Amino acid sequence: MFNSAFKCRVCDNNLSITIDFGLMPIANNLLEQNYEVVKSEYKFHMQTAVCNKCGCFQIVKVPDKNLMFNNTYTYFASQSKSMTHHFQILGDSIMKNFVKDESDYVLDLGSNDGIFLKNFVDNEIDHLGVDASENVVNNSKSKGINAICGFFNKNLCESIIKSKGKAKVIISTNTMHHIEKCHEVLEGMDLLLKDDGMIIIEDPYLPDMLKLGSFEQIYAEHNFIWCCSSYKTLFEKYSFFLNDVEHFSIHGGSMRYYFSRNKERSKSVDKYLALEKNIKVADDLTYENFKIKSEEVCNKLKNFLKEEKSKGKRICGYGATAKSSTLLNFAKIDGSLIECIYDSTPAKIGKITPGTHIPIKDASKFRFENFDYTILFAWNLKNEITAKEKKNGARTTWVEYVPEIKLTNAN
Ligand code: TMP
Ligand code: ZN
Repeated sequence: MFNSAFKCRVCDNNLSITIDFGLMPIANNLLEQNYEVVKSEYKFHMQTAVCNKCGCFQIVKVPDKNLMFNNTYTYFASQSKSMTHHFQILGDSIMKNFVKDESDYVLDLGSNDGIFLKNFVDNEIDHLGVDASENVVNNSKSKGINAICGFFNKNLCESIIKSKGKAKVIISTNTMHHIEKCHEVLEGMDLLLKDDGMIIIEDPYLPDMLKLGSFEQIYAEHNFIWCCSSYKTLFEKYSFFLNDVEHFSIHGGSMRYYFSRNKERSKSVDKYLALEKNIKVADDLTYENFKIKSEEVCNKLKNFLKEEKSKGKRICGYGATAKSSTLLNFAKIDGSLIECIYDSTPAKIGKITPGTHIPIKDASKFRFENFDYTILFAWNLKNEITAKEKKNGARTTWVEYVPEIKLTNAN
């Protein structure tokens, strides 16, 4: 550990670096199989820090946002039926509890391919999606969603207010942790939300990441891993108060946060704030232990792959996830150990993984290959994927690796 001049993006406190991951590519930046493209692949030095004051876990230097969010974004959230179902339940609850008045509309920050707003189209409820990646915005528009492409900030919110008025609900799922300039977002929300409105945020929860040793959640786009304490500090600077939280097991453990101008606070908020204090989310030492755990995960997986490969076994992966980019690059696992990775996303198929250059193949062909082992990189979607492939008659042994290696026969 060494001191640095970095400042916490939430509260401006001095930071010291806790984990150095070395050079990393942008996790969703899958490459064309082309020598020139591969040769000029962009990498950045990924180092993380935690703020000892507010508990905000962050990457200290983040690539330019235009390199990460553009017209070639490869993550399409609606690929997962279980996530679609998860957001349908949330959509129903918002329609029932918050959308009351003719002028009430819901704004989705990071609307992606419309996984959440589709529910509002289906129920003819006014909405607006905002996303920084043009190709996913276009995909959502083709489903009837009202969406615009842009970075969410004060200027954008001023123009939304002019054309549409203020929003009753601002929702942002799995997006806030992608946005380096978090104060710009809050400045926008401060303008855009109706006085009696609600902000709902959901993303991976820091204590879950620490518990699991699932360091894969950390990559260029995921430049924060938030918790109650850090979000509370950020939002209170703009007089938004944390009213309630709900915990979910998705994405290895996620938290949903409810903020408004109202100061009421549920018992759940107190419970999770106490938990965060107990497990010392704001202490550097916590991350030294986390780093050791993360290295163990990498070493165990790499040793397993080397051993099975030496016995002549065929090994592939399933889910060319952004998470797996951190794992593969940090552990230095490449095509010599994993032949290919299967994925159902059209924008990913035919490309190669960032940094490690493993070919990505069409998941609909997986069932015909009968690999000895399949590393489940989309371990967060285990039930959905393994059930689907069982039905397809795929024969393999699934390999999970967080927190331990676990083998399961596909049949
Ligand atoms: P995520 O873990 O970041 O949500 O990414 C999941 C990846 O897994 C995404 O690239 C889509 C892919 N996927 C499949 O290939 N087949 C499936 O059945 C599902 C649900 C996801
Ligand atoms: Zn801080």
